[in-house]
Amino acid sequence: MDAALDRWVPPETAPPETIHKAMRYSLFAGGKRIRPVLCIAAAETVRGGPVAGVEDAACSLEMVHTYSLIHDDLPALDNDDLRRGRPTAHKVFGEAMAILAGDALLTLAFEVLARLDSIDSSRKIRLVEELASAAGTVGGMIAGQVHDLEGEGAEPDPELLERIHRAKTGALLRASVRMGAIYAGASGEELQALSDYGEHAGLAFQIVDDLLDVEASSDALGKTAGKDAAQQKITFPAVYGLARSHQMAEQELEACRAALAPFGERAQWLRELADLIVHRKN
Ligand code: IPE
Ligand code: IPE
Ligand code: MG
Ligand code: MG
Ligand code: MG
Repeated sequence: MDAALDRWVPPETAPPETIHKAMRYSLFAGGKRIRPVLCIAAAETVRGGPVAGVEDAACSLEMVHTYSLIHDDLPALDNDDLRRGRPTAHKVFGEAMAILAGDALLTLAFEVLARLDSIDSSRKIRLVEELASAAGTVGGMIAGQVHDLEGEGAEPDPELLERIHRAKTGALLRASVRMGAIYAGASGEELQALSDYGEHAGLAFQIVDDLLDVEASSDALGKTAGKDAAQQKITFPAVYGLARSHQMAEQELEACRAALAPFGERAQWLRELADLIVHRKN
């Protein structure tokens, strides 16, 4: 993934240098690359083997995700100074350049999809639609971020919690799986099964993110631990407590496995990824 991303992002020497340095600083800080890997694994599940060029489509997901992190950390949002084990982009490049680096990664993501040369235009348009709506304001990432911010300090509420998590994180995870499936030419039934998997994996992902915020150290996470309670965020531990939240993550894992049943052995990689999402340590 790093090699593919490196091909798409202008070099640090391309003017204006500052913005390319800022984009690369956040992009190559050592993220887990879960979204692009889900995309590639979904494509391979559909085809039953390697799928040429899918890593290029997958780059668009990591670009949108990294933009969302840069903006999530800004003083006006979560106000974080540590990300992926490094000072946040705005600490290093200033707030204005961090905002622009996020904007630039978001824009570049769609340029990448438009320039894919391995699939036909109608498939590309479907990928653009998936990514745009997952990042957007109707049940997408921005919707989730708005609910998350407006929910700060509010009474912990199960319904609002689920709405926040499905949107702010779940939508892009689900889109990652769907985009891999669409790229690979999945049938309607295959796409539906993989969407179900992606939805459960997405919810599990944010339940675990909330748990890690309570249970892991800043060192292990590469980001500031304990932030959610400090900012009175609506989280799974805040609404359900730690033990119940762990159980709920395991239930989502079971649901992921059930969704993959029709694929048999072909879905082994996606099965392992669901397991990683629920049992990860950072
Ligand atoms: C963190 O995502 C932000 C959320 C949406 C929960 P990741 O845990 O995937 O972060 P990186 O990409 O590995 O840094
Ligand atoms: C962020 O959720 C989701 C995004 C859209 C970036 P969090 O605010 O919980 O993510 P972290 O914990 O800072 O990575
Ligand atoms: Mg946040
Ligand atoms: Mg945050
Ligand atoms: Mg978090």
